[in-house]
Amino acid sequence: MLKRLLPMAGHTRGNRSAVTCELKCGNACAHPVPNTSANPTFQQIAETAISRRSALVGGTGLAAAVVIGSQVAQAPEALADNGRRPTGGGKLPFEPIAPVTRTVDTMTVPEGYDWGTVIRWGDPLFADSPEFDIEHQTGASQAAQFGYNNDYLNIITDGGNDRSGYLVSNHEYTNENIMFSPEYIASNFEDVVNVGLQAHGLSIVDLKRAKRGAQWEYVRGGRRNRRITGTTEFEVRGPAAGHALLTTVEDPTGTRVLGTLNNCAGGTTPWGTVLSGEENFNQYFKGRGTAEEKRYGISTSATRRGWEKVHDRFDLTKPGYENEANRFGWVVEIDPEDPTSTPVKHTLLGRFKHEAGTAVISPSGHAVVYSGDDERHDYLYKFVSAEKVREGDKKHNMRLMDKGTLYVARFSGDSPAAQIDGRGTLPSDGAFDGSGEWIALADEKTSFVPGMSLAEVLVYTRLAADKMGATKMDRPEDVETNPVTGKVYAALTNNTKRTAVDEANPVIGNRDGHVIEITEQGGDHTSTAFTWVILLLAGDPAVSSSAYFAGYPKEKVSPISCPDNLAFDSEGNLWISTDGQPGTIGYADALHKVTLDGAERGRVQQFLAVPRDAETCGPVIHDRDNSVFVNVQHPGEDGTWGAHTSSFPDFLSPTGPVQVGDKVAAPRPSVVQVFNATGNNGIGKGAGKEKGNKGKGNNGKGKGNGNGKGPKG
Ligand code: FEO
Ligand code: CA
Ligand code: CA
Repeated sequence: MLKRLLPMAGHTRGNRSAVTCELKCGNACAHPVPNTSANPTFQQIAETAISRRSALVGGTGLAAAVVIGSQVAQAPEALADNGRRPTGGGKLPFEPIAPVTRTVDTMTVPEGYDWGTVIRWGDPLFADSPEFDIEHQTGASQAAQFGYNNDYLNIITDGGNDRSGYLVSNHEYTNENIMFSPEYIASNFEDVVNVGLQAHGLSIVDLKRAKRGAQWEYVRGGRRNRRITGTTEFEVRGPAAGHALLTTVEDPTGTRVLGTLNNCAGGTTPWGTVLSGEENFNQYFKGRGTAEEKRYGISTSATRRGWEKVHDRFDLTKPGYENEANRFGWVVEIDPEDPTSTPVKHTLLGRFKHEAGTAVISPSGHAVVYSGDDERHDYLYKFVSAEKVREGDKKHNMRLMDKGTLYVARFSGDSPAAQIDGRGTLPSDGAFDGSGEWIALADEKTSFVPGMSLAEVLVYTRLAADKMGATKMDRPEDVETNPVTGKVYAALTNNTKRTAVDEANPVIGNRDGHVIEITEQGGDHTSTAFTWVILLLAGDPAVSSSAYFAGYPKEKVSPISCPDNLAFDSEGNLWISTDGQPGTIGYADALHKVTLDGAERGRVQQFLAVPRDAETCGPVIHDRDNSVFVNVQHPGEDGTWGAHTSSFPDFLSPTGPVQVGDKVAAPRPSVVQVFNATGNNGIGKGAGKEKGNKGKGNNGKGKGNGNGKGPKG
């Protein structure tokens, strides 16, 4: 009997497959909710709590929002095109596809669109990189190749040049059971661990294309090409840098950390750097069982990947390594234009399971970064810089996160608690809505949390937020700001453990998740006050009574579940990618467009579906180029070596054999571009048509199998 490296989970209590749950987030949903604080729901928060906060932060000055002009926060026009600001180039017209059955192993895209891979796991990045050889990967080869399970993505064109640019993508986690044969794992365990370490992190890769609107290709040996991995040296910055809580026997200074792990959603800053959130870092460490470790979900059991058996630093019980896990769980910042730069971990943005790091410039010129803590019943945060952004001064701007204030969100509803029935029934005022407050936790010099030092607030931010009465949310995933309106959108992906509802988290056992729209007071992202409204309660409206789409007719929307990553097109429409639809509404994960303004506000239209077992990640909408990019993460996740469930994107084996010629038909996580090269977008041909697309694999190797037939929905 062949030996597996990782025991397969027998069940899942979340909405992903059991394997995804186990490998992506360390089975977070199968464990008790780490937030055991008595932190009340917001209906129970008395006004005294608000008074207390005011006393603690009094005089901060940030509450006095500066409002300029249109009240829409925008970067100065000359700042870098980060691909997420209005590009002024019209729409991306398409007829929505029907939802696709979960077993279809290809991309499904709208009529008139084509797709192709830009880069895949293992593609060589440098001139001297080894070619991908799935049966003989080593740490050294993986360190020179595109990593695994890409999540965050941005595609940045070089200013004024339509034919060159680069991509930044991260690599959240690894699935050794479909990356390696059991024989290889059994006889090369140390190599398997080191490939895993090198397959995490980020990639920066130069791109080229023949002309505007064409498909991008990656440039092997490009000048910006870089791998950042689980062993790359990072500089620790901010008030906790050098603190005893961050020191280890290998780094007594507490300022140099090797690697970044479990990077999930992120963001490109207006000054051209990339922020990336270290999310489920807990699963890589064997813990001691302290209260702080438990609050972060660190187990005392052996880890599933077994890295602690090869590298002592992943075993917190080993003398000298007690603090190693404190060195993960941060927002990291990378300058993709300078391959020699040292990436940074920012302690002033707090330590938690960061999903996202979305930077925006306030009307007053300050940098504001939003981030969610993706755990059931955890919180939504933002950071406001003390200093202002200086146009064209990247060195200064990369120091903005050294000084400023970290806040956590408290939501209040405006409807009587008795009207929030837990079934998604709208209260009598017709909306789940209300106001909210950003509660200051710390600035660069001061802790605002009674009984906790500044370093403790930053290293144990979850515990600090517990004390300050933050609102327990339904797993905050991506948080993004609308470049047209300045409003802030947070995806709450799901929370099947939700029992005590509040108006911002109004569904008991919230299986399908929801999206909240936040309006900062005066349109100023530095404000400590905001209003909010639930934009949509996800679900399949054909079967879910709680599904709600801002009042838009339910029968006219695409079903949607488990919202995860968010993006905007040039007109300010919201695009939502999903993670978990197969386990909830039974369809392949998808990318949806949601209209936000006018009579069609709340209209959800499905644009694409990803291959079997995959999650849709990192959407990038370049509508002026008729292009949409997505990261296809963990295709074939539920398979095993010898029984792969997907061979995307190379389609060596669409029908099941494990080997075709001398190649193993394993899936490869990929960056995919969906584009309209013909100008025929299918408009007017009838709604809801899904199709298998004649997808083109990268480098002419992979050909789509054309089997993408989904059910009519
Ligand atoms: Fe990595 Fe919260 O998704
Ligand atoms: Ca209300
Ligand atoms: Ca995510």
